[in-house]
Amino acid sequence: MEIIIQPNADEASMIAARHVARLVRDKPNAVLGLATGSTPLMMYRELVRMHKEQGLDFSEVTTFNLDEYVGLSPDHPASYHAFMWDNFFSHINVKRERVHVPDGQSSHVPAFCRKYEEAIVAAGGIDLQVLGIGSDGHIGFNEPSSSLASRTRIKTLTAQTREDNAKAFGSADQVPFHVITMGVGTIMDTRHVIILAFGEKKAEAIAGAVEGPITAMNPASILQMHPVATCIIDEGAATKLK
Ligand code: F6R
Repeated sequence: MEIIIQPNADEASMIAARHVARLVRDKPNAVLGLATGSTPLMMYRELVRMHKEQGLDFSEVTTFNLDEYVGLSPDHPASYHAFMWDNFFSHINVKRERVHVPDGQSSHVPAFCRKYEEAIVAAGGIDLQVLGIGSDGHIGFNEPSSSLASRTRIKTLTAQTREDNAKAFGSADQVPFHVITMGVGTIMDTRHVIILAFGEKKAEAIAGAVEGPITAMNPASILQMHPVATCIIDEGAATKLK
């Protein structure tokens, strides 16, 4: 795993955006795996700037998001559909039909999850997957003890993650209990992974992911086995590295 430590989240986000932009320029029909949450926001902002000021063209790009809350409609303000359109898709020229976010309202979740996996394969596989990391080491919403071979499926959030994500909902008890998430195995099949983490709150999870033993108790640690993984962090998130 390549580890890039930057003085702050801003500079780390610029590096991540440049990775995405380079791929999109080299391969206009690239397939991107995308994350939500506070961590990639500055990266999205920079990509929007590159689109508006430099003509970075997303018209042939296909996207697959990692996860969505079960039970939320796409227009619920805290849904990951809404997050992605508000913060990224509405500001670039990606085509709606090339955007994929798990359907939290699917009436048959296992069948939906199978189709999501099939759609990724049909698109040619994910070229670049952007990840954040939970304070417990989760990637996507693969919480500790998730199978390291798992595929897209329904998962239950831990109390810690519901607490961490409370802000968008007003309080932790409003956060749904279940999510649909790409599996760890789905993430491991992507050609390049960029994992981003900012702030001391993520330091322990990053230390486990980068230097700890590979364990399902820190799902991000499996990225040590990924052939092309880039970990871009700020100094806060690096404080527990040896
Ligand atoms: C979001 C996702 C999660 C987040 C993680 C960190 O799509 O898959 O793994 O990346 O929970 O969230 P933030 O960035 O809000 O700290």
